[in-house]
Amino acid sequence: MSTPAVEPAPGTVTLRDLNPLYGAKQILLPVSTTIRPNAVSAFIGPSGCGKSTVLRCINRMHEEIPGARVTGQVLLGQEDLYAGGLPPQLVRRRVGMVFQQPNPLRMLSIFENVAIGLRLDGCAQAEVNERVEMSLRVAALWDEVKDKLNQSGMALSGGQQQRLCIARAVAMQPEVLLLDEPCSALDPIATLKVEELIVELKHRFTIVIVTHNMQQAARISDETFVFMVDRTEQHTISLLVETGATAKIFTNPQDPRTEAYISGRIG
Ligand SMILES: Nc1ncnc2c1ncn2[C@@H]1O[C@H](COP(=O)(O)OP(=O)(O)O)[C@@H](O)[C@H]1O
Ligand SMILES: [Mg+2]
Repeated sequence: MSTPAVEPAPGTVTLRDLNPLYGAKQILLPVSTTIRPNAVSAFIGPSGCGKSTVLRCINRMHEEIPGARVTGQVLLGQEDLYAGGLPPQLVRRRVGMVFQQPNPLRMLSIFENVAIGLRLDGCAQAEVNERVEMSLRVAALWDEVKDKLNQSGMALSGGQQQRLCIARAVAMQPEVLLLDEPCSALDPIATLKVEELIVELKHRFTIVIVTHNMQQAARISDETFVFMVDRTEQHTISLLVETGATAKIFTNPQDPRTEAYISGRIG
């Protein structure tokens, strides 16, 4: 008799032989790994090693690129996010995403920037009001904007705009939040604020952050996933070389390539 498999906790993201393709081009050896809920997981590695690509597979954005597709599986809890018939839009509500460049909608007020997804869902005004406030509070922005909710989102500083984008994602009550280099366009003070926020958010969501900043990964993440490019005369292909507790990856990496990367010898 076979032992029943242990069920992953809700909010766990499991990648099984995940292989994102650009047309016929394979960029990555198939990735199999597990991303824990209620933790910050950092994807690190040199530019071009596939971090953003893997991230975009988790909310089905990769397939939006013409010719791009995915083989293998992404599970959220026990559910296959690539199961036939599951609309990608539904996956994107459960797996929110924040990008490098804060992207508030120019024509919309601060309030409406957060409300937009709720409006599209047909939420009643009272619920919209409640969820916008809750999301701005969760994003640590409420106190700074509560007296100017009708002003343009563009009137905010870069760091505030990024927290506004986080509030917009939070408003949809996702299970997972993906952040692709969310601080690269921010100054050090704004970066620190967003980092503090990310650490708070892990109590509510599964968090995956792509960062090229190793100090940032060391500061805020619980688990680190190290991607690397393997270049030979025959091929260029990326791979996930090592995963583990951040403290361990940074002090006692198992793979010599991780060690070379974090000590600044490659990348
Ligand atoms: N739209 C695309 N079409 C074809 N190849 C792409 C596209 N986007 C990224 N790639 C390739 O995929 C690889 C990984 O890119 P990416 O995921 O952006 O890396 P990272 O985020 O680690 O910098 C790179 O070799 C890049 O050239
Ligand atoms: Mg990237």
